[in-house]
Amino acid sequence: MNIKLLNRELDEVASDVTVVFLKKDELAENEHVAILQKAGFKAEQDTTCFLYEKGLLFCGIDSKKSDDLRSATSVVIKALKSSNFKSAKVHVEKKSTISALVEGFVLGGYEFNEYKSEVKNSEFKEVFLTSNDIDFSNLESIFNEAMIVAEATCFTRDIVNKAPQEINPQTLSDVAKKLAKDNNLECNILNEDDLAKEKMGAMLAVGRASVHESALIHLSYKPKNPKKVITLVGKGLTYDSGGLSLKAATSMVTMKMDKAGACAVLGIIKAVSELKLDVEVHAFIGAVENMVGGNAYKPDDVLVSRSKTTIEVRNTDAEGRLVLADVLDYAQDSVKEADYIFDFATLTGACMIALGQFTSGIMGHSHKLKHDISKAGSDSGEMVSSLPFNKHLKKLLKSEIADISNTASKPYGGAITAGMFLDKFIREENKNKWMHFDIAGTAYTESPWDCNVYGATGAGVRLMCEFIKDIK
Ligand code: BES
Ligand code: ZN
Ligand code: ZN
Repeated sequence: MNIKLLNRELDEVASDVTVVFLKKDELAENEHVAILQKAGFKAEQDTTCFLYEKGLLFCGIDSKKSDDLRSATSVVIKALKSSNFKSAKVHVEKKSTISALVEGFVLGGYEFNEYKSEVKNSEFKEVFLTSNDIDFSNLESIFNEAMIVAEATCFTRDIVNKAPQEINPQTLSDVAKKLAKDNNLECNILNEDDLAKEKMGAMLAVGRASVHESALIHLSYKPKNPKKVITLVGKGLTYDSGGLSLKAATSMVTMKMDKAGACAVLGIIKAVSELKLDVEVHAFIGAVENMVGGNAYKPDDVLVSRSKTTIEVRNTDAEGRLVLADVLDYAQDSVKEADYIFDFATLTGACMIALGQFTSGIMGHSHKLKHDISKAGSDSGEMVSSLPFNKHLKKLLKSEIADISNTASKPYGGAITAGMFLDKFIREENKNKWMHFDIAGTAYTESPWDCNVYGATGAGVRLMCEFIKDIK
C-alpha cells in the first residue's frame, strides 16, 4: 500500500473513498447525519460507518489528539482493506496529526503473512493525505520522517514475528549484517571463541545447550559531528524455553518474542541512520538461545561474568539478565564516551503484572532522564512508566554463595529486582546515563490495540526515535 502527501485541497484529489473522522459533538451538524444515525453510528471512538454509494467512510473519535487519531486510523485501514475500493483520501487538519495518520495507516495496516500459503490480496492500494497548508515543505519533512520511523517499526516487527526455526543467533547476525550493508553501518560480530576470550561466562552459559552458537552483534552509526553518543543494548533471546527451569507448555508459546529488545535496537539504528540524525548510535545485541540438554547450565551453577562479579543461578529462566550483564559490561568498555546507555529487554512477566500489557517499564537512577523519556513516551504515543528502585528490594538479590543471585528471594517487585540485578553491572560513572526498558508486556500482543495488530508491536522504536530526534 502506498501513502502520499499531496499539496492540494481535498476536493481536488480523485479517489474512491473519502475518510471522515468525526467527534460525537460534530455528528449533528454533518450533512449525512440522518443516514448515519439510521445506520446506528454514534461516532464512538474506533467505530466506523461506510456509506458505500457515496464513497464515504466515517470513523468516530473522542478527540483530535494524536492518540485517538492513530487508533481510529488503524480501524479505518482495516475497513478499507476489506472493501473493494482501491484508494482513499483524508484531509490533514494540523501538522501534529500527520504522524498519527501515518502510524495508523502503516502500523495498523501491517500484516505478517510469510508463512501462509494463501494470502487474501486486498484491492486497496493507495492513501492520499491532502493539505494545502502554506508551509507544505515542513509538512512534507514531518511526513517523510514519520514514514521512516513507521517502516523501521515494521522492520522490527518482521524479525520478531519470524519463527524460531528461522531466526537463531546466527541468522539474527545475518539480518544485522544485511542492515549494516544496506545502511552503511559498521558491523562487528563476536562468535563463541571471541566471547570466551572476553570471558563472558554468564552469556556463554545461557547459550550452552543450544545447537546454535551465541553471538554478540555490534552495529554502529557514526555521523561526522555527533551531538551525542548513544549506546543501545538489546536482549536477543531467539528462543526462551526457560532452560532446565523449563517453562510450562502454555507459557513457552510466544517465546520467539524474547528477541524483541534486540530487534527494537536494530529498528532504532535503521531509523536513525535513515533520518540522518546527528547522533552516534551503537547497537549491541546478545543473541542467544536458551535450551535444555546434557550440557545445559543449571540452577546451583555459579557463573563468573565478564565484570568478574560471580552469579549464583537459581533459575535458568532468568536468563536475559545474565546475557545483558555481560553485554552491558562489554558495551561500557567498547564505547567509553557514551552519553546515554539504554537497554531494551523482554525481561520479566512481573513487569506485565505491575503495569499491564500496554506500558513499558523504565528503570534507572536519573530523574531527569526518566522525565525526558516520559516526555518522548507521550510525544510518540508509546506508554512508559517508571518503576522505582529501593534498597530493600536490592537485598533480595543477595546470594549466600556468590556475589549476587540471578533471582530475588521473593517474587514481589520482580521487574524492579531484575532491573536492580542489571544495575550491578553498570559502572559508577555511568549510573546516571543508564536506563533499562522492560518491554515484556508491550513487545508482543495476541489481540490488537491502538496501532498494534496480532504479533510483534515494534515497541521501543517510535519511543527512541522521538527521544533521539529531540537531542540538542
Ligand atoms: N523472557 C522472560 C520474560 C517474559 C515473560 C517475557 C512473559 C514476555 C512474556 C524471562 O526470561 C523470564 O522468563 N523471566 C522470568 C524471571 C523469573 C524466573 C525470576 C519470569 O518473568 O517469570
Ligand atoms: Zn526466561
Ligand atoms: Zn527471556
